[in-house]
Amino acid sequence: MSVKRIDHIAIVVSDIDEATAFYRDVLGLPVAHTERVDEQEVIVACLPTGDSDIELIQPVDETSGVAKYLAKHGPGIHHICLEVEDIEQSLADLKAAGVKLINREPTIGAGGKRIAFLHPKSAHGVLIELSEAAK
Ligand code: CO
Repeated sequence: MSVKRIDHIAIVVSDIDEATAFYRDVLGLPVAHTERVDEQEVIVACLPTGDSDIELIQPVDETSGVAKYLAKHGPGIHHICLEVEDIEQSLADLKAAGVKLINREPTIGAGGKRIAFLHPKSAHGVLIELSEAAK
């Protein structure tokens, strides 16, 4: 598996408008776009910081994994996304290495990109997302 860069760092928030106002108006980051990602049951605001983005994510219902995370831990860093060349190859390599996966097959994330999550138990307590580079 070949990692190209950090695609984004995702921060879970309970109020995306309030959080966006802080990151945009106080920290001065641009807001590239906001979208609802039905597959992940979240609203995402994407704030570019050079080669990587900060993503603010707010759950849209109470039963999703993100909503449960927010209820348990409060707002904060939720996951780090690594961009990989080939997500299928990466998942095959990780399976072969015995890594615990949340998504054994790619699913759809923000921007329609193909993504998959690794289980934090296999990554020293960090939820890691893989995202395939746009071709
Ligand atoms: Co993400």
